Formats: sequence, structure tokens, C-alpha cells
Amino acid sequence: MQVLRTIPITQKMMTLTLEKGKSVGFVPTMGALHDGHMSLVEASLSECDYTVVSIFVNPTQFLLGEDFSDYPRDLEADKLKLERAGVDYLFLPDEKEIYPDEEMIEFKLPESYAGIMCGKSRPGHFEGVAQVCAKLFNIIRPGKVYFGQKDYLQTLVIQKLIEDLNFGIEMRVLPTVREKGGLAMSSRNKYLTDEERVAAQVLYKALKAGDKSLIEAEPMVELEYFERNGDVLAVAAKVGGVRLVDCVRLGREK
Ligand code: PAF
Repeated sequence: MQVLRTIPITQKMMTLTLEKGKSVGFVPTMGALHDGHMSLVEASLSECDYTVVSIFVNPTQFLLGEDFSDYPRDLEADKLKLERAGVDYLFLPDEKEIYPDEEMIEFKLPESYAGIMCGKSRPGHFEGVAQVCAKLFNIIRPGKVYFGQKDYLQTLVIQKLIEDLNFGIEMRVLPTVREKGGLAMSSRNKYLTDEERVAAQVLYKALKAGDKSLIEAEPMVELEYFERNGDVLAVAAKVGGVRLVDCVRLGREK
């Protein structure tokens, strides 16, 4: 696996790959990789000639007072996992590489995205996600990108970004990978104590039952929203101060 740290070198490598007529799959991540990320990597490896993974904890998608500086980082373990899986390139830029200038063009989401679910409860978050993904897509120029269903609104925002900015990328959204008790895998699960991890299982139970009172009855869980959009029911809640999200497609989960 080749580790690429600068944009010019990465763009050069990607141009060579495209000139050879090879397809490129891209999995953008913020690291602390778990089996959910690895399922995206596996899909890209099986569907594309080359797989690129990026690890970049993007400051512009964290609101003031959120966990940017505490976000789990485990680069050596991540590299090992990606290497073992057979990933071709790891794009590992630092903050100056992605944001060299303090003044940058910013994104504004339509109200139908900004006004629901995490769009509403984390104002500015998806603007940051859209900004970094637009940059990453332009640097890597993949044919396919891979995202997890867990971050439901993120998948809608990215799909809209791809369409509105005519990236010509195919977006693949893959099912949420869950721990034994049903808790959706997330890098933030690392923060949970054993007791909190068990309490957090109520999120998936409540989604499957379509019943938010299950969450309200769990004293360790502080509900942020339990919201339906089309055939998707999504939840965000804090467990021991750790913010978790999950969602289900109605009628599809056992
Ligand atoms: O889902 C994530 O890990 C991040 O939001 C993403 C897509 C890598 C952008 O920073």
C-alpha cells in the first residue's frame, strides 16, 4: 500500500491510474477504522481495479465544543488493517494540505437537508462534510465512492453534492455493520464504557420497534431526535456524553 500525503503527488498517481484505463474506488474516512469501514473497503476492492482510502479528521465538520481534538485516532492500527485488506493507496493529508488558506469558498445546504435530523441539530456539520468531500473527490477522481448507511443524511447530502456539482461518480451505500447486541459500529463506540455500550443497544431496538419511548425509558441515554424521512427512521442520542446515530429502512429490519 502506498501512502500519499500531498495533493500534487496523489493527483499525479490518480492520473496515471486513469490513463491506464483502470477503475478507482474511493472510501473516505476519518480513521479509527472498524468493521463498518472495512466492509466498504472490501466492496471497493471487489468492484474496482484500484482502491483508495483517505484518513483525514476534517475540522470543518465539527462544531465548536464538539470532539474534534478528542476524536479517536489510531493510525498504526488503521494502516495495518488497510494493508492487510489489500488497499492500493492511503491518502493521508495533514490539515494544511487540505486547508492551506483560512479563507475558503463555503457550501450552503438546501433547507430540506439543513432543516432535518443532524442537519438541524448540528448546524454547519454537513457544509463541512460537503466541502471536504468535494475536495477529496477532485483530488482522487474516483469512479465509485463508498459510504455507510448508518450516516443516513450524510448519504443524501453526498448524493446531492455529486449530482449538483456533476462529479459523475457512482455512489454506493452499504448496510450498517452492527456489534453483537445490535449497536451500529462507529469510531465513537470506543469512548463507551461496558455499561454504556449495553445501554446504547436500545437505539437499534427502538428503531426496529418504531418506538422512541424505549429510549426515553433508558436513563443513560439522552435522546436528540427520533425522526422519519420517507421510509427511513433515524435516531441520534448521547450515551454517557458520546453522540451516536443510527437508522433503519422501515419494514426491512428483522
Ligand atoms: O463519514 C465520515 O467519516 C466523514 O463524514 C467523511 C465522509 C469521511 C468526511 O469527512
